[in-house]
Amino acid sequence: MNQNKVGIITGASRGMGAQIAINLASFGIRVALIATSSARLLKIKKIIVDNKGSAIVIKADIYNFTEVKKAFRQIIKEYGRIDFLINNASVISPIGKISDTDPYEWKKNIEMNLIGGYNMIRACIDFFFAAKTWSYCKCKFRCCT
Ligand SMILES: NC(=O)c1ccc[n+]([C@@H]2O[C@H](COP(=O)([O-])OP(=O)(O)OC[C@H]3O[C@@H](n4cnc5c(N)ncnc54)[C@H](OP(=O)(O)O)[C@@H]3O)[C@@H](O)[C@H]2O)c1
Repeated sequence: MNQNKVGIITGASRGMGAQIAINLASFGIRVALIATSSARLLKIKKIIVDNKGSAIVIKADIYNFTEVKKAFRQIIKEYGRIDFLINNASVISPIGKISDTDPYEWKKNIEMNLIGGYNMIRACIDFFFAAKTWSYCKCKFRCCT
C-alpha cells in the first residue's frame, strides 16, 4: 500500500530523523533524506537500501530557500511525487546560561529553526498546490495552515 508513497525527512543524517527515515522505509515508503552532511546521509541510505528500501540523499541547507527549491526539483525528478514532509531538522546549540551564550550563535539558532522549517513548509505547499495533491504535512509549526 505504501509502495508508491514518497516522504521527505529533514535532519535525516542522525538522531530522530535518521530513525524515522529507516522506519518509514521499512514500511515501503520511498524516502528523501535531507541534511547538510552528505557523508552521514549516505550511511543512513545504506542502512535503508541494505534493508531493501528506497532512499535518495539530498545535501541541502534548509535555511537557504534556493537549496530547498533545488531539493524539491531533485525529488520530483527522481521519485515523481511527494506525499508528506517530516519537518524534523533543527539545531539545539547553544545551550547554557544566557549570560554565557554567544548572541550571534543564539540568533543563528532562532533563525535556522524558524526560517528552515518555514522554507520546507513553503516549498511543500507550493508543490502540493501545483500538483493538486495533499496527503498530509506533519509540521512542528503550530501556526501552519
Ligand atoms: N532529542 C530530543 O530529546 C528532542 C526533544 C524535543 C524535540 N526534539 C526535536 O526533534 C528534532 C530532532 O531532534 P534530534 O535530537 O534527533 O536532532 P539532532 O540529532 O541534533 O539532528 C538534527 C538534524 O538536523 C539536521 N540539520 C541541522 N541544521 C540543518 C540545516 N541547516 N539544513 C538541513 N539539515 C539540518 C542535522 O544534520 P546536519 O548536521 O548533517 O545538517 C541533523 O540531521 C528536532 O527538531 C528537535 O528540536 C528533540
